Amino acid sequence: MAEAYIKGIGTYAPQRVMTNFDWEKLVDTTNEWIIQRTGIKERRIAAPEEVTSDLGAQAAKEAMEAAGVSSEDIDLLICATASPDTILPSTACWMQPKLGLEGKPAFDISAACSGFAYGLAIAEQFVRTGKYRNVLVVGAEMLSRMMDWKDRSICVLLADGAGAAVVSSEGGGGRILGSRLHADGTYAELLWLPAGGTKMPASHETVDKRLHYYIMKGNELFKIAVKSMADVTRELLEEVGLSEKDIDWIIPHQANIRILQSLAKRLRVSWDRVVVNIERYGNTSAASIPLAWDEALKDGRIKRGDRLLLVSFGGGLTWSAILVEW
Ligand code: ACO
Repeated sequence: MAEAYIKGIGTYAPQRVMTNFDWEKLVDTTNEWIIQRTGIKERRIAAPEEVTSDLGAQAAKEAMEAAGVSSEDIDLLICATASPDTILPSTACWMQPKLGLEGKPAFDISAACSGFAYGLAIAEQFVRTGKYRNVLVVGAEMLSRMMDWKDRSICVLLADGAGAAVVSSEGGGGRILGSRLHADGTYAELLWLPAGGTKMPASHETVDKRLHYYIMKGNELFKIAVKSMADVTRELLEEVGLSEKDIDWIIPHQANIRILQSLAKRLRVSWDRVVVNIERYGNTSAASIPLAWDEALKDGRIKRGDRLLLVSFGGGLTWSAILVEW
């Protein structure tokens, strides 16, 4: 099997910054509660004229530029999102003409916050088998349009953003050492959007009951998140013959700072080796890992030869780990 590399990364965050103080004016919450319970201080919210595929296309363009590839070089577009432009067609199809990729295969994957890692793992397989040379993986989210702005238990957490990576058969960035994916649908109702699909078609009643918004049992997810992310990390480390001591940076999905602290403790990785930017972006689901990763690359924290653990957990439930040597 051939090697698969991360050739370039790009991100896009909408301009509008919404602070915890802005939320204080809209729901019964406080800046102190949000910071203490989640670590979030502010987040980005998309402009009314933007859609998810716009955010993704911006991030994808930056990733292609960083990778030094053009539209002609891209063989496949994968978009991970839990907040698609439309149910049909895929957000990848809406995004495709914005990137000059018409005619190239394009599809979405639905793995919530683990979507970007799932996308990387799929791209990795296509590249390793020699089927494709360059796969564009995009994690794009506009969670602000899928959440209930009156539900304080979720609205203060979620936000908008996008990240992208070019997974390539040619080196230049990071080498993917391995990937591991998991899902357990018996917990589907811990985080879901009940109406609008075949299970509960859209009707006046579903709208009246606010069933077209995410519903989350945060407390229950919290407990499973830490254990799942630690377990999948250990499985992957064993598979590639490494140990926790070999991890230079953990780049986790940014759902809650307390989850990240517990994870670092469980893996015995010091807190200053965890890339955290939840305070500025909130939970951007499939976009959160590339948003954190790109920041740590640009500010020089990640050095050549560093081993990076991308680890995520989200609705599905889904969880995953990817190891990259930069
Ligand atoms: N402001 C003030 N009080 C609030 C707020 C708020 N925004 N939200 C909830 N509360 C209240 C609750 O009503 C409750 O009040 P009560 O004790 O009077 O009943 C109290 O705060 C405690 O609520 P908990 O839900 O127990 O709070 P917790 O400490 O668990 O924090 C949170 C909630 C932040 C959601 C946390 O559980 C969490 O982050 N869970 C994990 C989320 C996650 O990992 N999701 C998966 C990935 S996301 C994705 O896939 C898109």
